[in-house]
Amino acid sequence: MKTIGFIGTGYMGGALATAASKSSCDIRLLLANRSREKAEKLAEQIGGEVTDNQTVAREADYIFLGVKPQILQTMYEGIEDVLKERKDRYVIVSMIAGKDIALLEEMFDGAPVIRFMPNMPVTVGSGLSFYAFSDNVSEEEKAFFLELMKQSGALHESDEHYMMALGGVSGCAPAFAAMFLEALADGAVTCGVSRKDAYVYAAEMLKGTAELYLTNRDHPGAIKDSVCSPAGLTIEGVRVLERRAFRSAVIDALVATFEKRF
Ligand SMILES: NC(=O)c1ccc[n+]([C@@H]2O[C@H](COP(=O)([O-])OP(=O)(O)OC[C@H]3O[C@@H](n4cnc5c(N)ncnc54)[C@H](OP(=O)(O)O)[C@@H]3O)[C@@H](O)[C@H]2O)c1
Repeated sequence: MKTIGFIGTGYMGGALATAASKSSCDIRLLLANRSREKAEKLAEQIGGEVTDNQTVAREADYIFLGVKPQILQTMYEGIEDVLKERKDRYVIVSMIAGKDIALLEEMFDGAPVIRFMPNMPVTVGSGLSFYAFSDNVSEEEKAFFLELMKQSGALHESDEHYMMALGGVSGCAPAFAAMFLEALADGAVTCGVSRKDAYVYAAEMLKGTAELYLTNRDHPGAIKDSVCSPAGLTIEGVRVLERRAFRSAVIDALVATFEKRF
């Protein structure tokens, strides 16, 4: 049995702990969070022991870091002594945006590091996550980690070099997609559809279009063309979106996430 510990059980730490709890791996789950109530509420839903950062640092075979980037240093200082006393092997799993493997290896004294870039849909098992391993992660640890995270959704290994770019598409873009969903619903409400129905219909349309692409792999432009009949309704909407620089705004948004540094 492996002990899996989470330091920080907010949105993302909580979602990954949930995925771990649903995995087929034989695990003991430790949950630590600054405000203990959050970890307690999570433990009520998925099981596991609520504990503190030091206990996770002392006992976990896989230590998941789920705190914000700005908190990493102070969080580390709180567990540094405990980690330095450890004689056994442990793996650091970091979901912290913008903190690379080299930095984490140095901080955690050469411990094996898995950098993981998940996104909010992991909460419902439909995530898109990227991962990269430090050189000293063993084949057995890689296989265990992938099995542990299997219930979170799609998993893709990535060159760490592309992690920031991929983090924009996977981690940030659900916010943009949700804004698009909201805007579609606002448009539908303007045209007389009820608010409650509008969100559901817009979400089902987005899901269906994504499925259409993933099933057939036709170019997105070809999907657009297949919907736009000559002198029809859809091309009128496409014309408006082009005039308002819709695609350019989305491209700029992704680039802005890529260029942001903490
Ligand atoms: N959200 C995303 O879509 C997403 C995607 C990819 C990566 N990430 C990464 O995931 C990490 C967490 O993001 P999030 O969105 O889950 O943020 P979040 O909901 O704010 O979660 C952070 C959690 O860390 C806890 N915390 C703060 N200081 C702590 C400490 N010293 N010891 C233990 N727990 C501590 C906070 O507790 P309190 O409740 O007391 O504040 C909070 O529950 C970030 O590094 C982010 O870059 C997030």
